[in-house]
Amino acid sequence: MKLTGPFKQLLTMDNLPEKGPLSDDQLEIIPDAGILHREGKIIATGNFNQMKEQYATTTIEWLEGDYVGLPGIIDTHTHICWAGSRANDYALRQSGKSYLEIADMGGGIWDTVLKTREATLEELAELTEQRAGKLLKLGVTTIEVKSGYGLSVEFELKILEAIAFANKRCMADLIPTCLAGHILPKDFVGNETDYLKLIIKKLLPEIKRLKLADRVDIFVEKSAFSIPAAKSYLSKAKEMGFDIVLHGDQFSTGTATLAIEMNAVSIDHLEAADVNEISILAKGNVIPVVLPGASLGLGEPFAPARKLLDAGTSLVIASDWNPGSAPMGNLLVEAAVLGAREKLTMAEVWAGLTCRAANAIRKTDRGILKHDYLADIIAFKTNDYKEILYRQGQLTAGMIWKNGEIVT
Ligand code: NIG
Ligand code: FE
Repeated sequence: MKLTGPFKQLLTMDNLPEKGPLSDDQLEIIPDAGILHREGKIIATGNFNQMKEQYATTTIEWLEGDYVGLPGIIDTHTHICWAGSRANDYALRQSGKSYLEIADMGGGIWDTVLKTREATLEELAELTEQRAGKLLKLGVTTIEVKSGYGLSVEFELKILEAIAFANKRCMADLIPTCLAGHILPKDFVGNETDYLKLIIKKLLPEIKRLKLADRVDIFVEKSAFSIPAAKSYLSKAKEMGFDIVLHGDQFSTGTATLAIEMNAVSIDHLEAADVNEISILAKGNVIPVVLPGASLGLGEPFAPARKLLDAGTSLVIASDWNPGSAPMGNLLVEAAVLGAREKLTMAEVWAGLTCRAANAIRKTDRGILKHDYLADIIAFKTNDYKEILYRQGQLTAGMIWKNGEIVT
């Protein structure tokens, strides 16, 4: 058993509603706090001095100086298992070409698929571990990772295996998702329905058997998969017991209804979502995940985060780190910038990175600092939590604990 502290302020992120706007005075902030933890789990939080007396024989992990503590950040949407670079696409976009035009010219997702297919399992595991390590250093203790740059039974399995290897080697928890429905692979003979049928028949059962993922994602867009094809694919994946998420409303609208019908856990992107899409989402329980890194990477508008919250939805913020649309890979910078632009309160941004993010990966053991939750903790060297987002990602977590262990 260990008592860690004192934290000048501890933001537990406890007792916040799952949906709708949040004001900063709803945040539970424990001053001069301590966290008692054992074997990776929190036993209690409270006043450090009182806890020190109450648990007099406990080892103390002293924090020197002022620290603000928060739950470890949860990034619910990344594509960090890839090889190669798309700097060329980025330069072309700055010369005026669009994401979709670049894809037609031989760049885009397919280019990364070819490079990723060439890489060995070991190389992919190494690249994923490095990127996950970079996120962990920023305080991201749980990282969702999608496949989607393999786009055949063999290569998708290779990517998911690489993610599983990286998960074993990295202190952060990696949550794998099958994104075989990223685009219709250019070398596939047949249409989108034929391809998705093959995935259902040959890939998803293997993923189940090898326990490589329990989430299935699809990119629904003109350049990717149509709504009817996605609907039948997702229904079957659901019958097989997978949780459903989707890339929707990135460039065009219409996927909110599909997400609700499929009882998806989340709908991610939403840069193009209009009032109609927002009102559809407001009536259901699908979690909107916004990806400011993709807006920054593509030079596109941000998703209407303020309007979504005001309509009464939840709001999660994730990095979408990938070589094409979101090359930055710094969730703290991205969330801070989105918050400034969209007028999100500090509480809304932090909830979108912690307690609300946990719901988007269906985890009930993290995202809040309280009894029985994981001791995934981040601490920033400051005496006021408002400094963190104000410094727009330049004040980074000085200390990070994953399962109660200090990350070095
Ligand atoms: O979430 N929109 C589709 N997929 C990714 C981009 C992947 C890529 O460009 O390589 C995204 O933005
Ligand atoms: Fe994505």
